[in-house]
Amino acid sequence: MRLPAERFVGVEIYKWIEGGRTKVMKEKLEALKVEALAKLQEVTDPQTLNDLRVKYLGKKGELTEVLRGMGGLSAEERPVIGQVANLVRSAIEDVIAVKQEAFVQQETQARLQAEKVDVTLPGRALPQGGLHPLSRVIREIEDIFIGMGYKVAEGPEVETDYYNFEALNLPKNHPARDMQDSFYLTEDLLMRTQTSPVQVRTMLEMNGETPVKIICPGKVFRRDDDDATHSFQFHQIEGLVIGRNIRMSDLKGTLQQFVSEMFGPNTRIRLRPSFFPFTEPSVEVDVSCFKCGGDGCRLCKQSGWLEILGSGMVHPNVLRAGGYDPEVYSGFAFGMGVERIAMLKYGIDDIRNFYINDMGFVKQFKGI
Ligand code: DAH
Repeated sequence: MRLPAERFVGVEIYKWIEGGRTKVMKEKLEALKVEALAKLQEVTDPQTLNDLRVKYLGKKGELTEVLRGMGGLSAEERPVIGQVANLVRSAIEDVIAVKQEAFVQQETQARLQAEKVDVTLPGRALPQGGLHPLSRVIREIEDIFIGMGYKVAEGPEVETDYYNFEALNLPKNHPARDMQDSFYLTEDLLMRTQTSPVQVRTMLEMNGETPVKIICPGKVFRRDDDDATHSFQFHQIEGLVIGRNIRMSDLKGTLQQFVSEMFGPNTRIRLRPSFFPFTEPSVEVDVSCFKCGGDGCRLCKQSGWLEILGSGMVHPNVLRAGGYDPEVYSGFAFGMGVERIAMLKYGIDDIRNFYINDMGFVKQFKGI
């Protein structure tokens, strides 16, 4: 390029040189932009895109390299070149952003395609479980008594001799202890043979308060040989009410209400005199056969009645053991076998069915 002679004076010469430098750098930047954009246009995968980003815009990239040359520029030149460089940078950045967005879209699209769910496919049927018939019966009985204002209490399965026998008016050497052959763990500890020990435990917990109104479902253990009607382990539900002026008529009314709800509104009860050490008087309670209505059938062995529980007025000694003065307080108690009730209700003829985990057996009770 020829230099105009009239400019060859004073600072003018520097201006001229500067102009040339600026132009060269501008051209470099422009060329860089053209090259970068052309390469970016051809990119078809995110990895190459990233490589190009590093190549042009990275710390050691080509744009940075050109800008490093700005050190030699004058104060007037720098902003000019700086502006061009920024334009180049943002042009490259814009294309990268557009490409990147396209890749994200592509990937989402591919994922949606790959993970497509066919909502018209029939669902996978999950086998539905059901409650064990004993659990059903326990819950049903609990519900009935809760409806009458009772609370559900619990007690330990490993019990002391005191609560299982002595506090229930069965002193050592009492002949009634023979009726219950027990699993003793030590001289003083045994697997409870009945849920009745919960009576005294509850009374002591209540600390003299009234009313006491509980039922207690639980497992009990006896040294029986298993057969169709006996098991070394079965379930009972105990009931206990303590208050002032609790009478035999309250017991009768309560049990009548219970059987009407449990076995049907036409079910009647019959009380027969009996003996339990912890109640006086004691009664055995029968319900009219819910299968034949009392006419006599195989279930009730033609008698028209089914024996379902033992009960009576709480013995003064038991009240005393529980911390209640028998001169002031009275109460009634009852106890029933859950297996027996379930067997009667569902026509099950062998108690062992409850324990052998035969799914075929258990499944029959679904939805009952
Ligand atoms: N515990 C008695 C038994 O296992 C059942 C029983 C009878 C419980 C009379 C009571 C009751 O609460 O009053 O045979």
